[in-house]
Amino acid sequence: MSPEPATAVKREGPVTVHVDLGERSYDILIGRGVVDRAGAEIARRLPGARLAIVTDETVADRHLKHLTQNLAAAGIDFVTIVVSPGEGSKSFPTLEKVLDQILAARIERRDAVLAFGGGVVGDLAGFAAGIALRGMHLIQVPTTLLAQVDSSVGGKTGINTARGKNLVGVFQQPDFVLADAGILDSLPPRTFNAGYAEVVKYGLIGDPAFYSWLEVNWRAIAALMIAVLPVLPGFLHAASTPGGQVTNPGFFDRLYTYAWFFTFGVSFAVYLVLMRTRTNAGDLVQHARH
Ligand SMILES: NC(=O)c1ccc[n+]([C@@H]2O[C@H](COP(=O)([O-])OP(=O)(O)OC[C@H]3O[C@@H](n4cnc5c(N)ncnc54)[C@H](O)[C@@H]3O)[C@@H](O)[C@H]2O)c1
Repeated sequence: MSPEPATAVKREGPVTVHVDLGERSYDILIGRGVVDRAGAEIARRLPGARLAIVTDETVADRHLKHLTQNLAAAGIDFVTIVVSPGEGSKSFPTLEKVLDQILAARIERRDAVLAFGGGVVGDLAGFAAGIALRGMHLIQVPTTLLAQVDSSVGGKTGINTARGKNLVGVFQQPDFVLADAGILDSLPPRTFNAGYAEVVKYGLIGDPAFYSWLEVNWRAIAALMIAVLPVLPGFLHAASTPGGQVTNPGFFDRLYTYAWFFTFGVSFAVYLVLMRTRTNAGDLVQHARH
């Protein structure tokens, strides 16, 4: 396996993907640096709107200042609502705190909730936007790969309950999505890997051309997530410990990432079975390497 430089993945300029849902259609702006356009895009798409920015402590530490400076430069008024990182924040108590802070800031229906974080923040803030004042505007600025390729699009929002994950929520389509590839640079490899498993799954299920692209570029992507391997055994042990309680704050985090590794494995196994019926041994080895 000869190493290839990370530059094998081409860096391309921002692109706009239009999601056609009739009245609920929205744009996804994708590219490195699109957060620098946040102020201009919000001023253009939701003129005069104030923002309730919902984020978590980790994302706030790394990226909030950059975003808020941009918003301030565009003359946009905002409040920030910072929650704890992790699955534990997809809960009734945290939802209540977020709603209370939205209302305390006198955010109105014509204003917007801006979800700035991974899937946890997106689901929580999206749900808050769906029910505060019977529904507000929602801007998704996803900061994990999983959130960029999955949770920020499609409109599913919600929280967990003691009876399971994502059992309470609403469909709330975003007004638009800013997916900034540059923000992923600060992601821990484990978190990046969970998102990459989802990307590969899309390729396996429905897009052979995209899967081929991944086959060419996987080394560059793997270089970003290779550090996950040393922590994997300990993580799998923790995730499979009998008697884990749903009230354990770290339980959902471990379970969720474990689920993506599992998804990756199952998808890969299915793929190999399918390929066995259609390709020669050389191709099979190629896919197995990927
Ligand atoms: N709504 C949907 O359609 C949908 C789809 C898939 C998953 N989900 C939900 O998404 C959640 C998982 O999302 P996730 O994997 O993004 O986890 P997450 O939101 O918990 O983020 C993972 C960790 O990465 C940190 N982080 C986020 N962005 C960062 C950045 N740029 N740099 C450094 N650290 C960063 C976070 O603080 C957190 O600690 C689950 O709750 C799942 O149910 C929802």
